[in-house]
Amino acid sequence: MSLKGDSHRQDKCVEGSFLYWDDELLRVFSSTLSYWSYYWEQLPLLLHGALVFARKEPNSQLRVLDVGCGGGELSIPVFDALASDFCRIQLTGIDPGENNIRNFRLRHERQQAKFLLGGIECKKFQDLEEGEKFDLVFCSHSLYEVFETAGNYSSSAVRVVEKLFRLLGPDGICCVILASGNSRAYEFKRQAYGVLGCADRFFMTAEHFRDLLKQSGKPFQEEVVDTYVDASTFWSGEPNHREDCLKWLSYFLRVNCFAIPTESQDRLINLFQDFSLPFGSLPEQFKSYCRKYPAACGPPSDRTPTVFHKESVFVGRQEYATTP
Ligand SMILES: C[S@@+](CC[C@H](N)C(=O)[O-])C[C@H]1O[C@@H](n2cnc3c(N)ncnc32)[C@H](O)[C@@H]1O
Repeated sequence: MSLKGDSHRQDKCVEGSFLYWDDELLRVFSSTLSYWSYYWEQLPLLLHGALVFARKEPNSQLRVLDVGCGGGELSIPVFDALASDFCRIQLTGIDPGENNIRNFRLRHERQQAKFLLGGIECKKFQDLEEGEKFDLVFCSHSLYEVFETAGNYSSSAVRVVEKLFRLLGPDGICCVILASGNSRAYEFKRQAYGVLGCADRFFMTAEHFRDLLKQSGKPFQEEVVDTYVDASTFWSGEPNHREDCLKWLSYFLRVNCFAIPTESQDRLINLFQDFSLPFGSLPEQFKSYCRKYPAACGPPSDRTPTVFHKESVFVGRQEYATTP
């Protein structure tokens, strides 16, 4: 079975496949990942500081572009927090998933939000800069596929970065959030591709993006956030645990794990299980961070099986982009 090349790309385009964020995936992710509180508490402060530093006047209107907006579960609270400092948020969301946009509309109470259905490759997005500029271009875990398809350091990858910056107004900021490759979760990912027979498959990480920003000459700030995958739901003995685990793995590995032989599924699940550690055995600094920002289901107990995860928040400014 080949997981590389065009056959893989074709899979990625199937609407409703595991590659699109949906309520089911959200259910599995929200019980396993710890970053929710970080999004809602720290990120608005970070963005507010960066906007003011970029000379955006508090109380002015804030034009926001949410790229790969999903259903808005994470970003709406961030924008709501920003709305208390800026008099009006004018939101444009773009996402290739129709359900995502429908859910975003349902959750988002503010009027006059605009949505584009499609990926950032679509013409509507490519035409945006002709008429519109934004104060905040926000890309939260939405650019993996875009860069994987473009090729990590190719000119088209650089063009994606340049395009995001071109959409910024003079005092605008661009925020891109991507997972780091330096974590146990990503070490698992590397080994899992070995199990799947595609050990050399490229996958985008925060480290690649950092290099890409440097290559594009765009200074930026980066904040690294430790987080974790709480694996207790996968190995809890619940009847659905295997299915949930395969769903999680499908999204994380971008491989339809339901379509591979049962024997390979078992090998993957066992490998993933080998990567988990009891929460109590993790370094104290990490534990205190996770207690401060617990997963949606609450803080982990010392016996919670845990897989380390790490992500980076990159913030760049338009004036940096235009200064030689
Ligand atoms: C992990 S979800 C993140 C959703 C949301 N930004 C958040 O942080 O909750 C990734 C999102 O990127 C979207 N996406 C995938 N490919 C995309 C593309 N080429 N252009 C824009 N968005 C894309 C998916 O449909 C999905 O909603």
